Amino acid sequence: MTSVSVFDLGRALAEIRGELDARWRAILESKQFVGGPEVGEFERAFAGYLDAPDCVGVGNGTDALILALKALGAGPGDEVVVPAFTFAATAATVEWVGARPVFADVESATLNLDPERLEAAITDRTVGAIGVHLYGQPCDLDRIPEICKRAELWLIEDAAQAHGARFGDRRVGSFGDLATWSFYPSKNLGCFGDGGAVTGRSLELLERVRLLANHGAKTRYEHLEIGINSRLDSFQAAVLNCRLPLLDKKNERRGKIAGQYREAFTGLDGLACLAIDERSRGVFHQMTVTTSRRDELQAFLAERGIGSTVHYPAALPDQAAFARFAEEASDFPVALRAASEVLCLPMFPELTAAELDATIAAVREFF
Ligand SMILES: Cc1ncc(COP(=O)(O)O)c(C=O)c1O
Repeated sequence: MTSVSVFDLGRALAEIRGELDARWRAILESKQFVGGPEVGEFERAFAGYLDAPDCVGVGNGTDALILALKALGAGPGDEVVVPAFTFAATAATVEWVGARPVFADVESATLNLDPERLEAAITDRTVGAIGVHLYGQPCDLDRIPEICKRAELWLIEDAAQAHGARFGDRRVGSFGDLATWSFYPSKNLGCFGDGGAVTGRSLELLERVRLLANHGAKTRYEHLEIGINSRLDSFQAAVLNCRLPLLDKKNERRGKIAGQYREAFTGLDGLACLAIDERSRGVFHQMTVTTSRRDELQAFLAERGIGSTVHYPAALPDQAAFARFAEEASDFPVALRAASEVLCLPMFPELTAAELDATIAAVREFF
């Protein structure tokens, strides 16, 4: 029996081990543990990759959201529309800066923010929206920016799961006012600890993010604003410098794996794959299927040594921390249903053909 992990970082590490050892040794020798050439090199390279004017490396994807929200001026009295089905940080950070997260349901086909629900959630207190590219698939980057523009709202792209994804001929991250990134180890572009970044189209806004991430100081001990300390670590930047050049190839491999899963599952009664927006080229951070027999399927796979995960087991309005921001969790039927039906199958570029075949065979056997 082939057992299959849902994710295996060891294989990615093995590929870059030689280069990473050299980079980490150089950091140890230079003793530049904070900032330094690795961080600058990564910020320039990632900005170049995204065709963005700058990239600000920060501590993690949650800080990236907080800093982006702060730089855009979100605060008490403001409302920010967020999808009802996403990782908690997308909504929690809105509250953390003193504003109110307002949930909008997601589209059933893709589980990304539903533009119509976004539009319906806008009030005269709304200042902006956060669009998430869930599972690596871009949200509707035709309609969402257009709705925000019409209502004079800013837009943050939470691109934590979508490094390298495209919508039309542009990479995600260039459609909103700012884009936030997480480099948590399991992400498509991940480091070996915590890391994050903010990118965007306006140098002025990015300069503000950089200032806020550095205690509001442009030069040492000259504090222009109240800020925090949120920095991309040199050792993590070195990992990202090794991994960024491989990203497109790795995303391509994810696409091939997803294609094989999707083909093998076509016509299986009781199992569905999420729809792919024809206008986009997503990067399959996760291979998500939906079934009303989700828990049974997960247990069946586990008995055969095949890992799977549930992202996410609850819609945010249905969680204790967020319930006060929604009148009724039942106002978000698509998100609620997704929480009971989604299952993420093994998906990482180094997954072998035998592991993929074993997973497909087990899923087919179940149905
Ligand atoms: C959609 C989304 N937003 C934000 C974050 C937060 O990133 P981090 O874990 O680096 O703080 C994550 C990470 O899981 C995420 O998936």
